[in-house]
Amino acid sequence: MSVQIHFVPDNLTVRVNVDESILQAAARAGIILRGACGGAGTCGRCGVTLRSGSVLVDNELYRGDEAPTVLSCRAYPTSDVVVEIPPASRLSEHQVLLDSQEQGRLEAGDERPVSPARPLYQEATVGLTVPDCDNAGDDLARLRRGLEPLAGTPDFTVATGLLRDLPGVLRAADWKPRCGIAFGFEPPRLVYAGTGSDTPCYGVAVDVGTTTVVVQLANLNTGSVVGTRGSYNRQAAFGDDVISRIIYATEESNGREHLRLKVLETINALLEELLAETGTTEQSVRACSCAGNPTMVHLLLGVDPSYIRLEPYTPAANEWPILTASEVGLRIFGEAPVYCLPGVGSYVGGDISGGLAFSGAAFADGVTLFVDIGTNGEIVLGNREWLIGCACSAGPAFEGAGVTCGMRATEGAVEQVAVSAGGFEVLLKAIGGTRPAGICGSGLIAGLSALQRAGVIDRSGRFSPGLDTPRLRSGANGCEFVLAWGSESGTGRDLALTNHDLQNLLRAKAAVFAGIQTLLRSVGLGKDDIEQVLIAGGFGLHINVRDAVAIGMLPDLPPERFRFVGNSSLGGARLALLSALDRAVIEETARRVTYMELDETTPFMDEFMAAMFLPHTDIGLFPSVTEQE
Ligand code: FES
Repeated sequence: MSVQIHFVPDNLTVRVNVDESILQAAARAGIILRGACGGAGTCGRCGVTLRSGSVLVDNELYRGDEAPTVLSCRAYPTSDVVVEIPPASRLSEHQVLLDSQEQGRLEAGDERPVSPARPLYQEATVGLTVPDCDNAGDDLARLRRGLEPLAGTPDFTVATGLLRDLPGVLRAADWKPRCGIAFGFEPPRLVYAGTGSDTPCYGVAVDVGTTTVVVQLANLNTGSVVGTRGSYNRQAAFGDDVISRIIYATEESNGREHLRLKVLETINALLEELLAETGTTEQSVRACSCAGNPTMVHLLLGVDPSYIRLEPYTPAANEWPILTASEVGLRIFGEAPVYCLPGVGSYVGGDISGGLAFSGAAFADGVTLFVDIGTNGEIVLGNREWLIGCACSAGPAFEGAGVTCGMRATEGAVEQVAVSAGGFEVLLKAIGGTRPAGICGSGLIAGLSALQRAGVIDRSGRFSPGLDTPRLRSGANGCEFVLAWGSESGTGRDLALTNHDLQNLLRAKAAVFAGIQTLLRSVGLGKDDIEQVLIAGGFGLHINVRDAVAIGMLPDLPPERFRFVGNSSLGGARLALLSALDRAVIEETARRVTYMELDETTPFMDEFMAAMFLPHTDIGLFPSVTEQE
């Protein structure tokens, strides 16, 4: 039996089978709801209002005439229904972080020797000797001789479809065919031969993030960027973090294929927009490079990710074979090579090896700390001679989940907070200059820091007893502090931080700092040995370093040692797209990183417990914070 769901205010209707949840149906309609727990029914983020019809939620029937709010991931329509999606349950569009090329590459990256560019795909017109009675050798041998300078070897392979039509193609081109070689395959592969002229070819670099996907089109002849587009990963409706995606992929029927199609939909939709905007055709996009964490790459390629989360935490591959665009499902030239940047270990992927190369961290003379903070915090320490890395689960707090009024860094999200002594006055700055609707990761860090400075919370992250301010009150979930009253907020509701929120934040910051300390101690170094800290990723760009140090998330170092490197994952993917030498460098970098698995048996847990304090139980690690007090 199938029924209809009509979504308002989107005015979209989809037909569903009765075993499809409203959350899944919404995703199919292109409406991405906040599915932080991957549909487990535990995060409470995916609520929708039933306006008419009836749904079944955990064996209980709800009817639209009572306008109930139900969790869309647990609600299955039993009749035609009208469903209203409140703004708080929706992933809205947000600014997507591009790489830092507009601001110029970091000097550390620019100091590398200039690489001879050999992009993933290269095209040239070749003049072949015309066969006659004295020179009647076979067509392919003729082509091998003519293409050797471009391919670098006469022993390239030929795409099957092309081989079948080769005799006619060479003659139609009057023995001066336009030929395209795909590199990355071993040996290189001839994937195009035709009568075309010297038209530009394009390649696409993709940053496949757990939360956000960014697609960048580059001219393969000149290396120039033609356009960039980003949006939420449509998988986000099925879990906020990689663990919930793996669980969805392995435990839901057809879950892995479903997630594969969702990320493909995201990339293909972005590509379509980019091609339309730049007047480029699908067929002229001849190569693709993808950087992502291991789970994202597994899911993009449709590979079983289940063993990533099971001891001893093994990915299916760190170095992926090159596939073609048609094998992957990308809507570009079908024989285009698709290169996935190599990963390091179960939770440190090609986004980090690419980022290390792009930012120059992999070639630094001095000890460099590279930090990419998201739901997973990936941390690499080292220099041109050695690198050691780990991933720590910071939890979803910095992405706006797991916090009562948390939201992602979209319009209306609070990103700066100031609190007067005693907690009487609060100043908030929201993204887009609008009224505050919630608070994003950087705002939470700023809030935690401001509340502690104002004496509203103590060093254990709990509200100080006996404060005489109306903002501190007892709420439905215990003690809470009101950042904005309903009359000031963009939602009409009070914006408050609860004790539970503060503890979630404390855990998130403690995980990041514990990861850094564990790496430092494993190589016998201290924070003062770090010459530079490179902060990568979208969240990093909004962080106020002073606040991040004040709460004990980042090491207490002079501000000039911190640098933001933007979307270095996308930058790494573009390097791999455009240069064989950079591909070799990224592969070498991935192999050079010693991967440290953090679990309860490592010193990580001791470091974590020590960091569950503001800024830390060992205050000597944060001298500048002590000085300010
Ligand atoms: S409660 Fe529905 S996705 Fe979490």
